[in-house]
Amino acid sequence: MTQPLQSQENFMTNSKAVITITVAACLISGAFPGPTQAGDATGAQPLALRKIMQELGSNMQATTGAISREDWAQVVQLAPKIAAHPAPPLTEKIRIFAYLGADAGRFRSFDAQTHEAALAMKQAAARSDGKAVIESFARVQESCMGCHQAFRKPFVEHFYGAR
Ligand code: HEC
Repeated sequence: MTQPLQSQENFMTNSKAVITITVAACLISGAFPGPTQAGDATGAQPLALRKIMQELGSNMQATTGAISREDWAQVVQLAPKIAAHPAPPLTEKIRIFAYLGADAGRFRSFDAQTHEAALAMKQAAARSDGKAVIESFARVQESCMGCHQAFRKPFVEHFYGAR
């Protein structure tokens, strides 16, 4: 009469083992993405930051076009996308700030400069003040370049491996 109970116990033990193996396999495949997911010659997954940067780049290009056409309404639309660009997911932020360490303040201040200059650009565009739009656009560009000159190469080396 103990037979059914015993086989049920065996079933429970086995299914637990199966679940453990499945979870482990998922964790491993997530932690070490295969070559098909690689975004880089070194095999490293691209940071979410890179995509955010690419969007910043295309919004800056679109702004140049809008300035050429003196399309201030479009600059008003584009400026907040530059000012309030999305942040990377929390886990990536933790990786980035752990890497930055004592340089975190400098990194953040470049980002704050981007934010502040892009908002000034929006306000200038809202009053159709072309000269002020161009001045604040230049300040946005200085903030991009400032951060890139200080951090981009070391970031790429650290997160993707030296090339
Ligand atoms: C606070 C620092 C910081 C600021 C400010 C910043 N960037 Fe970047 N940017 C980076 C870092 C770090 C990388 C390298 C990211 C990577 O390769 O994953 C990068 C990379 C890029 C790239 C290359 C993306 C690629 O495909 O390799 C572009 C384009 C870019 N940024 C545009 C901009 C523009 C435009 C601005 C200003 C509106 C800007 N960035 C402001 C830190 C910054």
